[in-house]
Order: sequence, then structure tokens, then C-alpha cells
Amino acid sequence: MFYFRSLYVRLMVAYFIIILTALSVLGILLSTFFQRYIMETSKEELIREGKAISQYINLYLKGYIDSSVLHYQYQIIDRFLGTTIWVTDELGYVWSSHNSAMLEEVDWDNQKVTVDEFTQVLSGETITRIGKFSESFPVPVLTVGMPWTLNNKIRGTIFLHSPLEGINRTLRDTYQSIWRSAILTSIFSMILLYFISRRFSKPLTEMNEISREIATGNFKRRVKVKTRDEVGQLAVNFNAMADSLEKLELMRRSFVANVSHELRSPLTSMRGYIQGVLDHAISGEGQEKYLKIALEETERMNRLINDLLDLSQIQTGNFSMQFKVVDINEIIRRILIEREDRILDKNMDVDVDFEKDVFLVKGDPDRLKQVVINLMDNAIKYNREGGLLSIKTWQHKENVYVKIADEGPGISKEEIAHIWEPFYQVDKSRTQKKGGVGLGLSIVKKIIEAHDQKIWLNSQEGKGSAFIFSLQSVKNH
Ligand SMILES: Nc1ncnc2c1ncn2[C@@H]1O[C@H](COP(=O)(O)OP(=O)(O)OP(=O)(O)O)[C@@H](O)[C@H]1O
Ligand SMILES: [Mg+2]
Repeated sequence: MFYFRSLYVRLMVAYFIIILTALSVLGILLSTFFQRYIMETSKEELIREGKAISQYINLYLKGYIDSSVLHYQYQIIDRFLGTTIWVTDELGYVWSSHNSAMLEEVDWDNQKVTVDEFTQVLSGETITRIGKFSESFPVPVLTVGMPWTLNNKIRGTIFLHSPLEGINRTLRDTYQSIWRSAILTSIFSMILLYFISRRFSKPLTEMNEISREIATGNFKRRVKVKTRDEVGQLAVNFNAMADSLEKLELMRRSFVANVSHELRSPLTSMRGYIQGVLDHAISGEGQEKYLKIALEETERMNRLINDLLDLSQIQTGNFSMQFKVVDINEIIRRILIEREDRILDKNMDVDVDFEKDVFLVKGDPDRLKQVVINLMDNAIKYNREGGLLSIKTWQHKENVYVKIADEGPGISKEEIAHIWEPFYQVDKSRTQKKGGVGLGLSIVKKIIEAHDQKIWLNSQEGKGSAFIFSLQSVKNH
């Protein structure tokens, strides 16, 4: 739980840092951009106003307007930009001035402007400065200085001082709205992130919990799959893994139960017979008979244990195969002859149909023998009295096919899927009377698979079954 919580927290923190950084960078960039922009436009504005004043001064000096009109113009500029205005003569004496409403009242009239900028402006330059303008003002101002001319001759200077306070107020307003929207965006994205991160980490947390449960042997829980992304796919695979683990565990348990059961029944009957002989409850002739039965039981157990060993070797992959070239027809022939008595006992007809006399295939001879024995024993065991046992081999392309068919009870469609499982028997109580524990077909299938070949079952209930398997053909020379 802890780790995934921390993943979740880490996600949130990482997202948040990214958003915060992005917003900060954006804020700083916007702020500096605005600052420069507002400064620039303020400068341009002051220069424009300076030029206007210069024209009004001309008008005034030529007598077209009187000083009140001039001062009225000053006031308009002041209201607009909060500007203190000095108009000086060539010597630097202020002969017309206006105090900004935002700055201290100082009577600038007749004062002499001594700053360096004055000479610069008088020589024809237009200057801009930011600062207190040589301590002329208590607060920083944006100053624009330019000459004014009369009859194309420089006759003095105009200085316009606009307190930065006024300019900054606009900036502050801009900053404020930038930061306000940044904070709003952060809050909004945090809420969004909360849900996204939770959605992202929830299946992981769940898988973590469930995997721990599986480790303790509880296979019941599954992850709820909600997305189709990588996490969703992981959840799907995780569930599939849990399914197969559960199945495997079930198989393992039933396997152990089956093995114990199958070992117990021959042991119990052997014990009964031996005990009977020891107790002298059975007469001399009977004794031999019972001891023979007990011996048969030991053989049955031996077979069972061999089958189990085979199966476990196949399952663990320690199943060594010695591939050779063998004649599958010869194998079938031998096994058939060995079973002659049993076939006759059941009055069965045998139909052998080999497409060719010799069919050389690649395979482990002992294992292939095991396959044919198991299939043929089943066919004999489950065939009806007097039924037909038909065996056929033929070639198709690269493969040789073997079919072993009987006219027994057949196997229903639902059962076909299961008969390859170890210990599976169609009708346990009925088939067990015929001997066997249900390992034969599972071994057959594993052997065929180890040969990279396939086995099929065609069966119709009531009519019979036909097992067909393929083998890799080896060309006859
Ligand atoms: N030819 C067949 N006809 C009808 N049912 C069959 C046939 N072959 C197999 N089966 C069914 O499939 C089950 C599994 O067969 P399998 O050969 O694995 O076990 P078994 O014959 O019962 O025991 P074992 O082979 O271990 O001695 C059988 O119990 C039987 O019910
Ligand atoms: Mg069998």
C-alpha cells in the first residue's frame, strides 16, 4: 500500500511542480514583456506630448494662445500620465512649469536646471531616463527631455517627468491578473490531477494487494479493468495470470488427492489379502489365488507409479527423447499381436489398413510404443463386445497419420475437452472397473506434443471413438 501511495503522491508532486514551473516561467515572461511594453508606450506617449507642448509654446510665443490655454494643455497631460512639466530657456531657467498631481508640490519656476542631460537636450537630442533625475524628485520617475524650437532654432528644453508609480500601477494590475489566473489554474489542475493520479494508481494499488493475497494462497480476487492503456493491459494480463495460477493450484490439489486415492485402493486390497493369508482364514489353494491377486495389485501400483513418473517428468521438462527413424507400422503390428488374446476374448473384428507397408517416421520408439499401447488398450477396453477395432495409417504431405478407432460408447462433446487431463475418466465408477486411473491419454498427448505433432479425437456418442495422431514422415530410400 505504502509504495503505491507514494507513487501516487510522487505523480501528484511531479505534475504540480511541472505546472508551477510552467506557470512561473510564463508569468515572468509575461511580466517582463508587459513591463517593457508599458515602459515603451509610456515613453512614446511622453515624447508625443512633448512635441505637442513644443507646438503650443510656439503658438503661445507667437501670441495665438495665452498662458491659460498652455497650462490647460499641461493639465490634460498630467491627468493622463501624471506628468510634471518643465519648459526652460536656453540657459536652463524654468520659465513655465506644471506640477504632477502625483508628486510633491514644488515651485519649479525660475529654478535653474543643471543636470548633464540639459546640455545634451539643448544640443538637439531627445533623451529618456528612469530614476530620481539627480534627486530632483523623491520617487523614481520616467523622464523624457527634448528641445523646443522657434523658427527652426533651438530655444530651450522641455522635460516631462512621469512618476513610475503611475506606470507601475498598470503593471501591478497586469501582474495581479496574471498571478490570479495562475493560482486558479493551479487549483483547478490540482483537482484534476487528484482524480487522474488516483485513476492511474488505483489499479496498481489493487494489483499490489491482490498479488499479496495470491502469494498467501487466495486466488479469488481480480482487478477491475477500466482503461485500455498500458495499465489496463497490465490488469488484463494480471487477471489472466491469476486465472492460470488458480487453475494450476486446483490441478495440483486434485492431483495430489487423486494420487493418494489411487495408491490407497490397491494397498487396501493387498493388505486384506495378505492379512487373510496370515490369519489362516484362507485355505491352501485359496492362499495362492489371493497372493496372486495381491501380486497383480503390486503390478497395478507399479504401472501407476511409472505413469506418474512419466507425467511428472514430462511436466517438469525432464523428458528425454531419443529421436530415431522408426517404422510406425511395425510398432503397431507388434502391439496388436501382443493383444491378440484380449481381442479374441471380446470377439472383436480387427481391420488393419496400412497405405504403405513401411512408414518411416521420426520419433522416440519407446515413447511411440507407449502412445500406441495406451490408445489401443483404450480401444480394446472400451470397445463393445464384438465391435470392430480399426487401425489405419496413411501419408499426407510431410506427415504420417495413425488412426485407432473402436465401436465403443464414444465420448460426448463436453467430455472431449477433459479427457486429456490427468486422472480424468468419463464415468469414474464405471470405467474404474475396467482398470486404469485416467493417466493414459494425458501421457499420450504430452508425448505427441513433445514430437511437435498433434492428436485429435473424433467421437460420436453411441457409435465409437477414433483417435488420430500425426507423425513426421521420413522419406523411404
Ligand atoms: N476409446 C475410448 N472409448 C470411450 N471412452 C474412452 C476411450 N478412450 C478413453 N476414454 C475415456 O477417457 C478416459 C481417459 O482415458 P485414459 O486412457 O486417460 O484413462 P484410463 O484408460 O481410464 O486409465 P489408464 O489409461 O491410465 O489406464 C477413460 O477413462 C474413458 O472414460
Ligand atoms: Mg487408458
